[in-house]
Amino acid sequence: MRTEQPKVIQLADYQEPDYLIDETHLTFELYEDHSLVHAQLVMRRNPACADSETLPVLCLDGQDLQLQRICLDDQELQAGDYSYDGGLLSLQPRASHFVIDSTVLIHPESNTALEGLYKSGTMFCTQCEAEGFRKITFYLDRPDVMSAFTTTLVADQQRYPVLLSNGNPVASGSEEGGRHWATWQDPFRKPAYLFALVAGDLWCVEDSFTTMSGREVALRIYVEPENIDKCQHAMDSLKKSMKWDEEVYGREYDLDIFMIVAVNDFNMGAMENKGLNIFNSSAVLARAETATDAAHQRVEAIVAHEYFHNWSGNRVTCRDWFQLSLKEGFTVFRDAEFSADMHSRTVKRIEDVAYLRTHQFAEDAGPMAHSVRPASYMEISNFYTLTVYEKGAEVVRMIRTLVGARGFRKGSDLYFERHDGQAVTCDDFIRAMEDANGIDLTQFKRWYSQAGTPRLAVDASYDTAANTYRLRFRQSCPATPGQDEKLPFVIPVELALLDNRGRELPLQLVGEDAAVGTVRVLQVTEAEQAFTFVNIQDEPLPSLLRGFSAPVKLAFPYSRDQLMFLMQHDSDGFNRWEAGQQLAVQILQELVGQQQRGQALVMDPRLIEALRTLLVDETLDQAMVAEMLSLPGEGYLAEISQVADVDAIHAAREFARKSIAEALFEPLWQRYRANRELSRHTPYVAEAEHFARRALQNIALSYVMETGRPEVLAACQEQFETADNMTERLTALAVLVNSPFAAEKAVALEVFAENFKDNPLVMDQWFSVQAGCPLPGALDRVRGLMQHPAFTLKNPNKVRALIGAFANQNLVGFHQADGSGYRFLAEQVITLNALNPQIASRLLAPLTRWRKYDAARQALMRAELERIQASGELSSDVFEVVSKSLA
Ligand code: TRP
Ligand code: ZN
Repeated sequence: MRTEQPKVIQLADYQEPDYLIDETHLTFELYEDHSLVHAQLVMRRNPACADSETLPVLCLDGQDLQLQRICLDDQELQAGDYSYDGGLLSLQPRASHFVIDSTVLIHPESNTALEGLYKSGTMFCTQCEAEGFRKITFYLDRPDVMSAFTTTLVADQQRYPVLLSNGNPVASGSEEGGRHWATWQDPFRKPAYLFALVAGDLWCVEDSFTTMSGREVALRIYVEPENIDKCQHAMDSLKKSMKWDEEVYGREYDLDIFMIVAVNDFNMGAMENKGLNIFNSSAVLARAETATDAAHQRVEAIVAHEYFHNWSGNRVTCRDWFQLSLKEGFTVFRDAEFSADMHSRTVKRIEDVAYLRTHQFAEDAGPMAHSVRPASYMEISNFYTLTVYEKGAEVVRMIRTLVGARGFRKGSDLYFERHDGQAVTCDDFIRAMEDANGIDLTQFKRWYSQAGTPRLAVDASYDTAANTYRLRFRQSCPATPGQDEKLPFVIPVELALLDNRGRELPLQLVGEDAAVGTVRVLQVTEAEQAFTFVNIQDEPLPSLLRGFSAPVKLAFPYSRDQLMFLMQHDSDGFNRWEAGQQLAVQILQELVGQQQRGQALVMDPRLIEALRTLLVDETLDQAMVAEMLSLPGEGYLAEISQVADVDAIHAAREFARKSIAEALFEPLWQRYRANRELSRHTPYVAEAEHFARRALQNIALSYVMETGRPEVLAACQEQFETADNMTERLTALAVLVNSPFAAEKAVALEVFAENFKDNPLVMDQWFSVQAGCPLPGALDRVRGLMQHPAFTLKNPNKVRALIGAFANQNLVGFHQADGSGYRFLAEQVITLNALNPQIASRLLAPLTRWRKYDAARQALMRAELERIQASGELSSDVFEVVSKSLA
């Protein structure tokens, strides 16, 4: 915690390190009331910047460490030989090669920030990315300093029978006093942020994988004993990931052992520490009875993501933290492609695009907007964002769209080969793609430096006499903090032109000799640019931005009838869904307007009729039907509003849902019952076809429940009571909680809590379902649930499940006109600021969106931001977000 203002770090100020650390030898003595860390650093002057005669002062990072002893080449330093201000330790080396030995005392047992070395339950573990290693020992805590690590752990044998660190186990033994030790050696040089250790009473599930070159790798997943029956899905996911990375990227695993450890208290999803991934238990544990289909898919994706980092992140790492998207954007792209290959490609794309448009677009439009490669930061933890991760992945996807799948593989091969063992920049990634494909991505790189979501307006004109069809594109990008003027992006627009039966027309541009296929990627590179297609016999309907080929806001003046046509006939599955969403948005916005004017709500029946056609067609992919039945979320509707009227949005969407439920009751009920019947007789499998069946079943149930019919209530209760899996049980619970059946919901909530009180991850679901319920009294219910014995502010999963779900998911509850939701959130942020700054800062996000709301709410939201600002000693995390939001 600091009182002075955190300083701004600029990308433009990057300098190579003066010194390097060739070897790092660490010994941890772990005790219940403190721990001792001995570090021996074998160092030398960096030859790349050894231009001056005099040796520069050595400045080691070290945050709030109690220094016990420090030696330079075996000479203990005295008070006057060095200085330490709580953040940096400075000393003057005497030679270009030297060894630093230090011993520090730290308190993992009281570390609630979950950064550095800390305790989760009875287990010791670490989280060093981005700048946590400096809370463990004095070091050059920056990713371009890579070192060979040897780590010894010493701890009580009874309490901590398992002692783990990166690399391979090389020695172990016992000491007197019931203590034991183990030494691990990591043969790969790595930056400190990839360091990890774990000590605890853990059980493990073991398996093995034979790599493409025939090496056998031991795979181990370590968990607390009660969770040993929930690891199989993660293990299966790991083996699939290893195989996929060999097949798709030619990348093989490099150590003889790969370990995953599940911990309950973790700030994020998981961490890719070399050979020893540490995971939030929510990202590992999954079995049918306790985890939903969505949770199973999340586990698979996160296991893959962290595994893929072994190449995109660890073997080739980041030069500095501004380059974070180099590893994160690329790795999110890789895990998304993996999930697409494992399940339904179209459904995965729909989920990712809906998520990006709701959350990343909102970030891009808010006060924390930043480019994929930010130019400055106060606190790097604040930049693990949707922009760096998800938009970063979209940027990589656009490169693949531009160079094609084979060109992309050539580029990634060159990147890995050229930079193996190095700490590099986004420019190096781009250069590999350019060199492998003989192209120039100079203008494309604006995606890395310009923030904001571009708008792409398209209009069309058909020339009946000349048989030509002209598409005109106009791109613009709104100003973002610190960036008023934007230059044109390279926007790849994948498209087809459809005839009146939905068939794709051959595409020939003016000046071309012949048509080049029926699906093409146009590159829009100018502020305004037109493309003319020839030999078009009748006016076509364009299917634009297929697969969401660029992260932009596309606007084309489709009529509702055209959208209905595309919804049913577009040959691209993603764009069929997209047309349905656009139609729904138009109709919902019309209802919002009626609601705001105090008129009776009247819904355009065309959406209902289009949905009926989909529902009765049993040949369609059920997952697609489920996606098409899902109306755009309230968060997305808020995001695309000028001024978001959350009450009107909620009322409009509820009205639309009820109208659909009444009009389509028969087909919905029929499909619900058929699928429920199948579920009852089919054992749970975590595979696409089963996900699809349950997705349609569950969305159908949520609709038919809107009608309040007694046979539906009975079916919902039956599903709640007898389902053999969490997907069906939790949906039934959520549907009951959101219904007016007060007595039934109270019973269900109580039964559920009683059955699952010993499973914290299931209790998280129980909290979330209630936090997300928009019925009156939401805040009181949330406050009440904070008193529940299963709740604690010290566990990030609990904070996210209850407070996060309320502030992000429950728009009417959070945005109460009296400002009570805002005040509540500010209180929690202030408390958490002292306990866990990273979580406090993330929890703040909804308040930063104040510009989206009416004047009264804006004033209330700003007042709460000001209250946080004035609340005392702010962490750099919270300080940065609050001050930028108020600026
Ligand atoms: N590199 C991690 C990932 O795979 C991100 C991460 C995990 C992280 N824990 C963290 C970032 C704590 C900051 C703080 O995406
Ligand atoms: Zn990552």
